[in-house]
Formats: sequence, structure tokens, C-alpha cells
Amino acid sequence: MSSLVVVGTQWGDEGKGKVVDSLAQSARMVVRFQGGPNAGHTVWVNGKQSILHQVPSGILTPGVVCVIGCGCVIDPYVLTEELAALRRMKVKVGGRLLIDFRCHMILPYHRGLDAAIEEQAGAKRIGTTKKGIGPAYSDKFGRVGIRAADLLAEETFHDKVKRNAAAANFLLMEKYKADPVSAKKLAADYWRITRPLARFIADGSLAVEQALAKGERVMFEGAQGVHLDVDLGTYPYVTTSSTGSWGVAAGAGVSPLWLDEVAGVCKAYTTRVGDGPFPTELVGADGDRLRQLGGEYGATTGRPRRCGWFDAGVVRASVRYNKLTALVVTKLDVLDTFDQIKVCAGYTLDGRNVDEFDPVHAAELKPRYETVPGWQQPICHARRYAELPRAARQYLALIEELTGCPVAMVSVGRGRDQLILAKPRALGWLSGRTAHHQDTRRQRPAAGQQKD
Ligand code: IMP
Repeated sequence: MSSLVVVGTQWGDEGKGKVVDSLAQSARMVVRFQGGPNAGHTVWVNGKQSILHQVPSGILTPGVVCVIGCGCVIDPYVLTEELAALRRMKVKVGGRLLIDFRCHMILPYHRGLDAAIEEQAGAKRIGTTKKGIGPAYSDKFGRVGIRAADLLAEETFHDKVKRNAAAANFLLMEKYKADPVSAKKLAADYWRITRPLARFIADGSLAVEQALAKGERVMFEGAQGVHLDVDLGTYPYVTTSSTGSWGVAAGAGVSPLWLDEVAGVCKAYTTRVGDGPFPTELVGADGDRLRQLGGEYGATTGRPRRCGWFDAGVVRASVRYNKLTALVVTKLDVLDTFDQIKVCAGYTLDGRNVDEFDPVHAAELKPRYETVPGWQQPICHARRYAELPRAARQYLALIEELTGCPVAMVSVGRGRDQLILAKPRALGWLSGRTAHHQDTRRQRPAAGQQKD
């Protein structure tokens, strides 16, 4: 297979960064297609931790070209810091990173608005990361956004920043009683800060399409999770982008017909950060235990994550929305010490049994649990599926049965080597099956070449 989409199947933080980093070993290109610095992809290589926010996780594999696709929003401050951190780790970025010139920019007034809107909403807040994501996408869809391409023309850039900062200041001061930004200073500062980024700005859509047309192996890296999707998620408690496979075409700027397969990453339990419905949330000691054992604190904000049992309805909906071909189950080792483990197989709603996860009534869904025995032994040393205890394999079989999707890989620790192949044949990417795509575009005859 020459193209693979990797998405989160729950509410984000499923461990996509680790999975993409591992699968990128055999990729030529890794492309982010949505979101921005709200993402925090944690990858451990040789005992060292990297948290990537905007740069695709493929950057940690030498030779892989990374593209920030046109569906992303970029905070140039955060990106500059991220690139400096990569340089300190001696990761070569030059010639390997490309920012689509259509990407929209996050400016300080977007962050200011994000915080002010949340503050004013009080108990009805979304629980955003306050990274300015919603307001930046609002400018994009309001058709007044500032794009990466604007960083290539000084006068246009200054004009647009001043115009947008004035509009944002009006809201900040009049509606939210918050501090304004200095438009003139902002335009000058940002022009200076963003200069070093200009060399990465190019036509990302064209680069991705050319790689696919050559049959090169291209991976599309999702951020957040399917149930944070702006259309299919638990609206309004969602992020502002399209987080599933349906977002790839628009967010990378390529036809959906290029996509070969979609893998979904899910934790062996469920977490959610921020507000919004969460049917299997555990608020007592079991929730605290999961949070502690799993180190469940936000990679971007440090907030404690809400924790609960595996919700098969949530993942089954992701399988359906994405047409997932395989699951990758992460953090199975976090369940090592539980004597009993619960799995939500379906729900009740107003006393009726309901099988499907319903995002509109998610707050009223009551989980129907199946309880299975735990394995009560450490599994972090297992490197082959057969080395997993029987109860752990039975737990994975139950996940497969309830979600209707095969588990191709299982993660039993944070290291690169702690990713076990379970049903590798479910994921064509692993066996490197040949691409079936052909470039069907008519080629223009080269100058001087005879036409038949
Ligand atoms: P925003 O994307 O900052 O606007 O936040 C909207 C919702 O998405 C909030 O509930 C956030 O906590 C959640 N969210 C955004 N990015 C991530 C992520 O990378 N992992 C988990 N949750 C996220």
C-alpha cells in the first residue's frame, strides 16, 4: 500500500504520535492535514521524549519528508520553538519540512479571543487548549484569514494583520472586556519572527500528489480524535477541524481516491481532556488509578485527563465513519494490575437498549458493561503477540468482536520497540504490498516530441 491514514478513534491522546513514528520508518512522506498546536504528539526515541505540536511525527525518522497540509493552522511562535527544539536534538529539518502556502496562521489575538470566549462561557465552556484554534479557523471560514502565503509579501501581510487585529480588538475590548493587542507592533514583530519560516513555504498539495503519483509511501497523520471532529463529534464539545479520514482530501489538498487504507489508534481504555460528554468516565478511585498508571496529563496543557473504561460504541462509530481497516491498541500495559476490567458494549437511553454511540444524546447514554478478568502481570517485556498473557489476548479479541475491526498492533510501553504485531495482515502498509495507484493524468508531450 502506498498511502495510509492514521487517526485517533476516541477523544484524542490515543498515542498516534508513537504509532506514526513507528510506521514512518518505512514512509517517504508524512503529512498533517488538520489542527494546529492544540495537538501534543509524544514520542520516545532512545529514552528521550519529544513532544511535537505542529511538525508531523515523521520528522524523527531521517529521510522522511514532512508536510504541514493546507487544512492546518499554524502558530509561528510555537513552530519556531518546536524547530529550535528539534535542532537541539540534532534532527535535520532543512529540506525535509514543507508548509503548504494555504495554511492559516494563528496570531496572538486568536489566543486572546479563545481565552476570553471560554472565560465568558463559564460553566458552558468547551475546555479548549486556549491555543487560538477556534478563532483562527473562524477567520479562515469567514474568509478573512491570514495564510502562510501572506508571509511572502510584506505589504499584504502588514495590511491584513492590522485589519484583523483591529476587528479582534473590538471584540476583545467591547464584548469580552479583555486586553487588546497592539496592531502595529504585532505586524512588525510577526514579520520578523516569521522570516526563517518562509523557506519552508511551498505548494504542499502538489508535493503530496507528486509523491503519491510516483508510488511513494505517504502517511497522513491525524490529530485529536474522531469524536472531537467538528461535524461527527460530540458538538459543541469538539475541536474546529475534520479529524477523520474524510478530512484528508481537503486538508492535504489531494483527491480521496489516493487513499488506500485507514488505521485507527485507540487506547485500551478511554480518556478525554476538556469538557463534554463521556459515558464511561470513572470519577472515583478507579479513574484516579487509571490516570496515575497511564500518566494521563495533557501533553499540550498539562491538564489531568478524565479517564474511564474502554467504550466499544465510541470506537465502533469511528470504524464506521472512517471505514477503518485496522486498529492499533495502545497502553494495554496500563491495565496490568486490574483484577477485573470493564468494557462498554452498548448503552441504555431512557430505559431502552441502544447499541450505537449517539453523539447528540451522548450525555444521557448509560453504559452497559461486560466484565472480563485482568491478567495481573506486567506485559511491557512482551515483543510477540504469543507472549501476551491469555487474558490480555482475550481482552483484545473482545475489542475486535465489539468494534468489528481487527487489531493489527498492540503497544505495551512508550518505547519504539514496545509495539507488537498482532494481526499484521490487517494493515497492508506493514507488508509493503505494492501500490495499486497509477498516475492516470495525461502527460503533455515534451517540447519537440511528436504527437501521434
Ligand atoms: P481546541 O482544539 O483547543 O479548540 O479544543 C477543543 C476541544 O478539543 C477541547 O476539549 C480540547 O481539550 C480538545 N483537544 C484539542 N486538541 C486535543 C488533543 O490533541 N488531544 C486531546 N484533546 C484535544
